[in-house]
Amino acid sequence: MNPTRAEIDLSKLEFNFNQIKKHLHKNNPRKKIKICGVVKANAYGHGIQEISKKLISIGADYLGVANYDEAIKLRADIPDASILVFGTLIHSKLKPAAYVKRLLKNDLIATVASLETARFLDYYSKKIGKKFKVHIKVDTGMKRIGFDVKWAFKNIAQVFTYKNLEVEGIYTHFATSESNDKTFAKQQLNKFRELLHQLKKSGMEFPIVHTANSGAVLDLKDSYFDMVRPGLILYGYYPSDNNIKNIQLEPVMNLKSKVTYIKRVEPNTSISYGRDYYTDERSFIGSIPIGYGDGFWRVFSNRGKVFINGKLYPIVGNITMDWLMVNLGEKSNVRVGDDVLLMGNENNYAIGADKLARMAKSIPYEICCAVADRVQRIYLDNKKTL
Ligand SMILES: Cc1ncc(COP(=O)(O)O)c(C=O)c1O
Repeated sequence: MNPTRAEIDLSKLEFNFNQIKKHLHKNNPRKKIKICGVVKANAYGHGIQEISKKLISIGADYLGVANYDEAIKLRADIPDASILVFGTLIHSKLKPAAYVKRLLKNDLIATVASLETARFLDYYSKKIGKKFKVHIKVDTGMKRIGFDVKWAFKNIAQVFTYKNLEVEGIYTHFATSESNDKTFAKQQLNKFRELLHQLKKSGMEFPIVHTANSGAVLDLKDSYFDMVRPGLILYGYYPSDNNIKNIQLEPVMNLKSKVTYIKRVEPNTSISYGRDYYTDERSFIGSIPIGYGDGFWRVFSNRGKVFINGKLYPIVGNITMDWLMVNLGEKSNVRVGDDVLLMGNENNYAIGADKLARMAKSIPYEICCAVADRVQRIYLDNKKTL
């Protein structure tokens, strides 16, 4: 079997979830705030089914996914949970009646970000004879999807006239909650509050109001309302170095492989494609079967390091699609079959996705999501490790 795998420790997910719960309670002791675990993009690369099952078993109230395909697939494994779809419906090219029937049968909660979607769902739900549960999305500054907050009142009032929709929630999304400077996030929040106030005055209220992604959960306690929507912090990383590190988090994924080939080479030997690296001295070179085809970025070539038996070794030469090479030094105790930690945290040896992201001029989100489908996910529940 290919030794390259992503070990996903569900007890660390539970630890992070409980850290979030404690933090919410500390900041808002008088209210139980619901948690929508964000599991889109294959649970940020961690595997949507197992992560979702675990989140529901430890008390997540909702699951958040990006689109209807993710939601329908997830429903097969999670029969009961509330699944909120953040994306919009693409109405074209569909057999609309059959499609809406399928969504209703899967008991999904839709985001309504336009009147077209509202009308569409209302029209076909009426034909099917079942109300469609929806959350209204308001754009307060992200400029992605949502009713523009400036005109939202009128549009939302219109949505309320559609009798085959059950308006369960309303939400917005922050553009900069991970930033040091919370000015823009606070402006978004104020606009949203003002809209809620106007809507309430006209009798439009919502059982579930929500705004907070990870950055806001950490640093913007005024944003909690009835529910929060953390993604990245569930998986053990802070969205950015700017967030106050006010809760302890444990990276859930360890990306690992094994040394599968070792050779000794002479000084001045080039390694890998392009011959960008030459050995200084006689060296042992270890080959590890993981490459950019597994989602381990080529940008780490000649820059990244990996842990083998608790010691860091440099990645040398260009990372290839299926392999990378490390320089094990002039003398080496490393053997074929030894475990290699490429990303994560084990026995206090840490190479976080955050660190890799800095090296790649990226963000930990992208590094985690990049782990390819061909990498086997192995699920552990190591309570004793925490
Ligand atoms: C609508 C929505 N809510 C919540 C999240 C979770 O964000 P984060 O991973 O920063 O917590 C996302 C992810 O981008 C999102 O699109």
